[in-house]
Amino acid sequence: MKDSVSFRLNGKPVQLDVDPERSLLWVLRTDLGLTGTKFGCGESLCGACTVVVGKEAVRTCLLPVKAVRGKDVTTIEGLEKNGKLHPLQDAFADTGGLQCGFCTPGMIMNAYALLLKNPKPSRPQIIAGMEDNLCRCAAHHRIVQAIEKAAAGGAS
Ligand code: FES
Ligand code: FES
Repeated sequence: MKDSVSFRLNGKPVQLDVDPERSLLWVLRTDLGLTGTKFGCGESLCGACTVVVGKEAVRTCLLPVKAVRGKDVTTIEGLEKNGKLHPLQDAFADTGGLQCGFCTPGMIMNAYALLLKNPKPSRPQIIAGMEDNLCRCAAHHRIVQAIEKAAAGGAS
């Protein structure tokens, strides 16, 4: 049964008439057309579907949309400001922190949450914070370099 669900998405209020049990991933991708957030495993295992809720990295594939009622949701589309990429996005591009790019939005959103909490993480802290996000292209080394580069430039 549908119900009204309201939250803030990339800084703007959103109100939906939706099945509250529908996953946030499909609300974002299908209902709202924000396809930057990716469907990988669908089982909360890979991290491709990560967004930031408040300051926390959250996987959306199994998260019912009702769980973000009244909260602030940031997706990869919300990082660009005034036509300028976020420093993390620039750093991923500069260091080649991607290959196919499928894991990249989830990686960047996980890194964004990591830097919100710890703006100057050590390499071991970056690795520990990112190790549950999977990259089938094995770009992990360059992903860590990208996060170090963004953190050095004050990305948070
Ligand atoms: S698609 Fe959500 S964790 Fe893999
Ligand atoms: S760049 Fe291809 S899955 Fe990570």
